[in-house]
Amino acid sequence: MLEVSALTSHYGRIQALAGIDLTVEDGELVALVGANGAGKSTLLRAISGVQPSSGKIIFNGNDISGVRSDRRVRLGIVQVPEGRQVFGPLSVEDNLRLGAYTRTRAESDAELERVYAMFPALKERRGQAAGVLSGGQQQMLAMGRGLMAKPRLLLLDEPSMGLAPRLVEEIFAKVRALKAARTTIFLVDQNARAALSVADRGYVLETGRVVLAGSGAELLADEKVRQAYLGL
Ligand SMILES: Nc1ncnc2c1ncn2[C@@H]1O[C@H](COP(=O)(O)OP(=O)(O)O)[C@@H](O)[C@H]1O
Ligand SMILES: [Mg+2]
Repeated sequence: MLEVSALTSHYGRIQALAGIDLTVEDGELVALVGANGAGKSTLLRAISGVQPSSGKIIFNGNDISGVRSDRRVRLGIVQVPEGRQVFGPLSVEDNLRLGAYTRTRAESDAELERVYAMFPALKERRGQAAGVLSGGQQQMLAMGRGLMAKPRLLLLDEPSMGLAPRLVEEIFAKVRALKAARTTIFLVDQNARAALSVADRGYVLETGRVVLAGSGAELLADEKVRQAYLGL
């Protein structure tokens, strides 16, 4: 579904991505692991097109390297950004509907019911301002907003960041549910153990380079990964 090759990206003179090659197959859940500053968010943002990059990005057989980010959303590449970024003064429901801006009202209505079925807590709070939700609820809202665009490839950047262990578990349960529903997911999370545990495959990123790739189980068992990312 996604094939990235020789992808580079810079902030001014600083190179954040130094030639990335990776693939995500239809229906797969692929995890990206790496330390702070490794370039994980930059990579997701390059794929969604909000961060400029060079190299090649093929999506469903089409070269989308030069395609604008709003167009990529319409093609089905949807990013849930790091730090939730919900619109605090707007209601939960209005935040969700913003995720469906590329779609008709009828489609938005239908998608809203699906999102509420998956996140009942959001339905209960549909009229409340997003800003008063807890961190975990805001993450659910950010994911729900992403789902409103009916992604073919969902890019999740640090969904469990800053959440208490019980909520981390809840977020990963939602990720598993999305995977079970055949959503293709590219996941970044500091909780490397949880991310690799749900993943079919994973990549390890160090200073803008892929240094290791394998199945989730292989990476969980890898000595270097265990020392650097699992604290063992
Ligand atoms: N807006 C920015 N301006 C300049 N440098 C940035 C910016 N965002 C990220 N960087 C730098 O790019 C590198 C990769 O950052 P990032 O992709 O956010 O890493 P990660 O998500 O893995 O923590 C880091 O060295 C970071 O300091
Ligand atoms: Mg990041």
